[in-house]
Amino acid sequence: MQYLVTGGAGFIGANFVRHLVEHTDHHVVVLDKLTYAGNRESLADLDPARVELVVGDICDAELVNQLTAAADVVVHYAAESHNDNSLRDPSAFVNTNLIGTYTLIEAARTHGKRFHHVSTDEVYGDLELDDPNRFNEATAYNPSSPYSATKAGSDMLVRAWVRSFGLQATISNCSNNFGPYQHVEKFIPRQITNVIDGVRPRLYGTGQNVRDWIHANDHSAAVQTIIEKGRIGETYMIGADGEKNNTDVVGLILEYMDQPRDAFDLVTDRPGHDLRYAIDATKLRSELGWEPQYSNFEAGLKATIEWYRANEAWWRPAKEATEAKYRAAGH
Ligand SMILES: NC(=O)c1ccc[n+]([C@@H]2O[C@H](COP(=O)([O-])OP(=O)(O)OC[C@H]3O[C@@H](n4cnc5c(N)ncnc54)[C@H](O)[C@@H]3O)[C@@H](O)[C@H]2O)c1
Repeated sequence: MQYLVTGGAGFIGANFVRHLVEHTDHHVVVLDKLTYAGNRESLADLDPARVELVVGDICDAELVNQLTAAADVVVHYAAESHNDNSLRDPSAFVNTNLIGTYTLIEAARTHGKRFHHVSTDEVYGDLELDDPNRFNEATAYNPSSPYSATKAGSDMLVRAWVRSFGLQATISNCSNNFGPYQHVEKFIPRQITNVIDGVRPRLYGTGQNVRDWIHANDHSAAVQTIIEKGRIGETYMIGADGEKNNTDVVGLILEYMDQPRDAFDLVTDRPGHDLRYAIDATKLRSELGWEPQYSNFEAGLKATIEWYRANEAWWRPAKEATEAKYRAAGH
């Protein structure tokens, strides 16, 4: 089978492409614009007979049409994905996340192709720290940022294309991912690479915000399970019961990197910063039999630290520009 993977040179997309290469015989075409967040080095060691990178924009209808016609399955990861950037300039988020998704689902419906839309738990807004509820497939959408609002809009487009045009699509909403190949702008790689550089980690607000962490490999396996066994038109939550607050995560990073656990600073909070995310993945587990394989967060975090230590050539080129953006925002 031929898979078209959009955003396959980004963090989670690259991990998914590597998952396909390792666990299937499928041929993979990656469509990626190689924005600041895309990195061809994340795919460079893969067999070119299995994985082909097409550099292009998911908003380019002609290109999307041509690649979709040749594919059996389209898996849609490409997005503008960083909340802080969406507060500075939402325009790329509206274009890529909404117009790009529209362009892809139009092509998938024209050619009758199986489509999987990768989304986030951030579409549901946030929870109080002591709320016993977790997000599930029936939770009302309540996005907080331009990023999550455009992802919510893209989910709604896919749902409408299923209902109105019979698009053969599924949707997944996953919690926060960690693992190798994640851009240094994101929380865990930023803290690890700051410690490597001898810089104290910086946490937004009180540091009490909670994220529900999942290893990118578990996300990849879940997406592949949904593509193979999921019911058309359905949404599946993906999460691995990994709730941790930011202070605890940074404390573990510091401890594993031989620093005192409290060697970090708190900085002004991000506007609209969601307090807590928590995922109930019962439907995925009970209907499709998926189980996370990397649920030991501490072991996964140690391996991730080792990966960033061993792969400085991969992340170093983006580090200074990323920190300059944070400095300009006072973070
Ligand atoms: N990172 C997380 O924790 C997380 C959690 C749940 C869901 N998601 C979703 O997973 C997907 C991937 O997230 P990520 O963290 O890997 O993002 P990322 O920013 O690391 O990668 C995004 C990729 O998309 C590409 N891209 C951006 N605009 C494009 C365009 N117009 N045309 C073609 N390619 C384009 C970039 O070059 C990059 O390679 C996103 O849809 C995101 O919403 C992410």
